[in-house]
Amino acid sequence: VKLLVNALGPPPPDVVQQAHDHGVLVAALVGAPDQARKQREAGVDIIVAQGTEAGGHTGDVATMVLTPQCVEAVAPAPVLAAGGIATGRQMAAALALGADGVWTGSVWLTVKEADTNPAVVERLLAAGSRDTVRSRSMTGKPARQLRSPWTEAWEAPDSPGTLPMPLQYMLIAEAQTRMHRYADGPAGQLVPAPVGQVVGMMRGRPSVRDVIYGMVEEYVATVSGLAASLPETAEAN
Ligand SMILES: Cc1cc2nc3c(=O)[nH]c(=O)nc-3n(C[C@H](O)[C@H](O)[C@H](O)COP(=O)(O)O)c2cc1C
Repeated sequence: VKLLVNALGPPPPDVVQQAHDHGVLVAALVGAPDQARKQREAGVDIIVAQGTEAGGHTGDVATMVLTPQCVEAVAPAPVLAAGGIATGRQMAAALALGADGVWTGSVWLTVKEADTNPAVVERLLAAGSRDTVRSRSMTGKPARQLRSPWTEAWEAPDSPGTLPMPLQYMLIAEAQTRMHRYADGPAGQLVPAPVGQVVGMMRGRPSVRDVIYGMVEEYVATVSGLAASLPETAEAN
């Protein structure tokens, strides 16, 4: 293990200490610059600024706005940008915002190597960027996922409302296991599918290798194109 990454609040000091004692770096996901500062105070080495468009638990500020705020809040500590990054152009944009690198999630759900439930893969490949919703229905905290009859039912006027973390997941865990088990039938529509808005760009079933090389090649082409677009006088300066 080279890196221990946590989310939903600073890690306990003894965990950070143990990781550091073993030469393991610690990173943390944040959705606001004050959270980034708190993580640094707790001894976290790398901040992951995760915008609202990300899949899974996420805040409400977009990557484009959040990343430079976090970079400024914790400089010179390294910051990775997350949320909505699946291509080389998006990676170049993140580095332009001051990030030292990027952190990705959604893009891996539909690669050939992924063990994502086939019923979920089908729904992901058919989804557009407006088909996700931040819903508390899975864990009690807002997590971006595909909108489904399940998320809609939890938002309906006759819904009893969700329970706070960790009770909501304890409440639905058994039902969720059954949804997974019978996912090749109608229950497949209900299986919670955490994914970000970038789902609208995820098409086909590339390999991990294709995704990595595609990102790197597009990143290099994008940055070279931007450099070439500078006026000569600016370049000379
Ligand atoms: C299916 C799925 C599960 C995730 N689970 C976790 C998790 O358990 N812990 C965590 O810190 N982040 C989790 N994330 C968030 C990712 O670490 C990452 O920040 C996010 O996916 C980046 O945005 P993107 O989805 O637009 O690439 C999850 C994301 C997805 C899509």
